Amino acid sequence: MVEVYEFWTIIVTLVVVKLCHWIYKWRNPTSNGKLPPGSMGFPIIGETLEFMKPHDAFQLPTFLTKKILRHGPVFRTSLFGARVIISTDIGLNMEIAKTNHVPGAPKSLARFFGENNLFVKSKESHKHVRNLTSQFLGSQGLRLRMIQDIDSLARTHMELGAKNGGLDIKETSSKILIECLAKKVMGDMEPHAAKELTQCWGGFPRGWFRFSWSIPGNGVYRMLKARNQMMNLLKETVLKKRASGEELGEFFKIIFGETEGGSKKMSIENAIEYIFTFFVIANETTPGVLAATVKLINDNPRVKQELQREHKRIFQDKTEKDEADLTWEDYKSMTFTQMVINESLRITSTVPTMLRIVEHETHVGDYTIPAGWIFMGFPSVHFNPEKYEDPLAFNPWRWEGKDLGVILSRTYMPFGAGSRLCLGAEFAKMQMAIFIHHLCRYTWSMKTETKVLRRFILMFPRGSDVQISEDTEVDNSAVY
Ligand code: HEM
Repeated sequence: MVEVYEFWTIIVTLVVVKLCHWIYKWRNPTSNGKLPPGSMGFPIIGETLEFMKPHDAFQLPTFLTKKILRHGPVFRTSLFGARVIISTDIGLNMEIAKTNHVPGAPKSLARFFGENNLFVKSKESHKHVRNLTSQFLGSQGLRLRMIQDIDSLARTHMELGAKNGGLDIKETSSKILIECLAKKVMGDMEPHAAKELTQCWGGFPRGWFRFSWSIPGNGVYRMLKARNQMMNLLKETVLKKRASGEELGEFFKIIFGETEGGSKKMSIENAIEYIFTFFVIANETTPGVLAATVKLINDNPRVKQELQREHKRIFQDKTEKDEADLTWEDYKSMTFTQMVINESLRITSTVPTMLRIVEHETHVGDYTIPAGWIFMGFPSVHFNPEKYEDPLAFNPWRWEGKDLGVILSRTYMPFGAGSRLCLGAEFAKMQMAIFIHHLCRYTWSMKTETKVLRRFILMFPRGSDVQISEDTEVDNSAVY
């Protein structure tokens, strides 16, 4: 009996020692030099709960400000089970973004996008699909292929909203985006297939940053299930169309190498996986930023007034010329709107916009960042009073006389930097401008209770509804 007792005592002691050692190693990771200061939090969950606490979307999270005060601009932590370096040092952020290529995402996200996704598989395949996508979403592509569709979809949805007395900005923007991209990928779709696709997106679980475990019922499980459903739906539609000789959309043709001069063909699976990635990223970003922008406009009557003035001028101009559709020149003439969008992108950038896996050991000052850690670069320069006077104020006029087409500079990086710089930046800005343009055809106001929070992604716990009435000085019965 005593022997059994001793045996178990030894086992338990060994387990406790091993566990203590593991916890010690967890809390005190090693590197070839001195690690940036910081703490790794609790085993496995690290400091994830604090990091993911919802915060005012227009201010940097308290987690970050507290840590900067304690440790300085570069510190270590642990999030979603991974070792992470967080940096607000612009020089370091730019260097890491330029010299590292692998996206810094938790494992759950890598699984969600697919292990064979050409976007992550190799530098060459990434470059190839990036080049293809630029044909579609670069200025030339937007001007030739996108502006008309976005214009017509925004107009239609806004008219419907006006008839119903209002609409939800985020939801409507998402519908416009998906309908537009679906058409570009699938070509004309049968109404039931289009409806199924939109519904599938509508029910898509939100929030990518999660722990990597997939357990029936949990977030990652639901994400992966929704991914499979969506991929099957896309694949089925593509295969059916190809079998019946129907034409697919121009984006699919570009991706699949079927356009003139298109060379490398890719498998249907690869093409679908890439298209899926693209839909998800687009849908997760622009609708939220647009809804937050509308909230900022609504809460700043001077801005709203100036916008109404700008768009009224465009409506009148078009009515006089008897023109129906918005042109690229009309879009480019929306100077104040572009100032509003730049300012909104500055103030809503309260998340890291440069995410990479550190590929090679990197030195910053006295510190060493080991290879393999996740790097999260915050664009906190957006809130630096030396660069932006009164940085928490929403002030579009600060953009007066500046380059309004900017998507990246040393003081402005809402779309990241380096080889992973956002591919949809110009498209997102255009979609937002055209949406605001059509909204300004009406008298509108956002519900006062609207709240904009961030929990990594933008959240609208009380929706993002605007009330719209046809009572306006703009003649909506005219051609325009
Ligand atoms: C306001 C809206 C948007 C914001 C704020 C935004 C922001 C970003 C950021 C911060 C990155 C990561 C860059 C990095 O790691 O350095 C990114 C990447 C990306 N974005 Fe956007 N994005 C927006 C809209 C869009 C849209 C509409 C699309 C597609 C139509 C899109 C497609 C992409 C793609 C494909 C990547 C990955 C690029 C790569 O890995 O090469 N984004 N975006």
